[in-house]
Amino acid sequence: MRPKRIVRDGYDAAALRYLEWSALRPSAIRLRFLARILDLLPDRAEVLELGCGAGIPVTRALAARHRVTGVDISPVQLELARRHVATATFLEADLASVEFPPASFDAVVAFYSLIHVPRREHAGLLARIRGWLRPGGRLFATMGAGDNPDGVDEDWLGIPMFFSHFDAETNRRLVREAALEVEEADVIEEDEDGRAVSFLWVIARKPIREARRSA
Ligand SMILES: C[S@@+](CC[C@H](N)C(=O)[O-])C[C@H]1O[C@@H](n2cnc3c(N)ncnc32)[C@H](O)[C@@H]1O
Repeated sequence: MRPKRIVRDGYDAAALRYLEWSALRPSAIRLRFLARILDLLPDRAEVLELGCGAGIPVTRALAARHRVTGVDISPVQLELARRHVATATFLEADLASVEFPPASFDAVVAFYSLIHVPRREHAGLLARIRGWLRPGGRLFATMGAGDNPDGVDEDWLGIPMFFSHFDAETNRRLVREAALEVEEADVIEEDEDGRAVSFLWVIARKPIREARRSA
């Protein structure tokens, strides 16, 4: 089966389980990163959230103060998100191919979603994110911390789930190569049911002025 199909069907089947397992008991780092985003956003910001899931806790907190567009590939996740967050706009789409006008967002936020996108698409996706950001706008993202070529975990929350990402150093390089200035990119370990798991937590900014290209 194709990766995107595995992810969509998986989250459709496990949406409520994921909500109970993760979204309703967010890790300390997730709450810290969310607080950091809220601190850094300008007033009434336009925010794009990629892989918004059921809208808790991230979309709801962002939408309390900002205009949020949430994208997700899973119709069931989106149904929950619409129920949880009445004031955001939601779109069912693949975050790697969805289209938005250039320079239309102050921030692009992605908690634990890029790790489900085939890694050969990551460089192109970062370039697209850069295009959607306004000058000075920021990407806030959870990325992989270890090398993980495309693979399926056959029993993730009781369903098969696709994962794919590069190691932390490669991810930092990809963000820089997308012409985003890395402000923070730390590998942080968290506890997942008694197992230590690590992610790279990235804050990167689109420069306010474009770098001059030499003729
Ligand atoms: C681990 S959940 C995280 C949900 C939410 N960001 C949170 O922190 O609770 C990953 C979400 O990303 C979505 N997702 C994964 N791949 C996607 C893709 N290619 N396009 C859009 N959404 C995707 C999944 O459907 C799922 O809702």
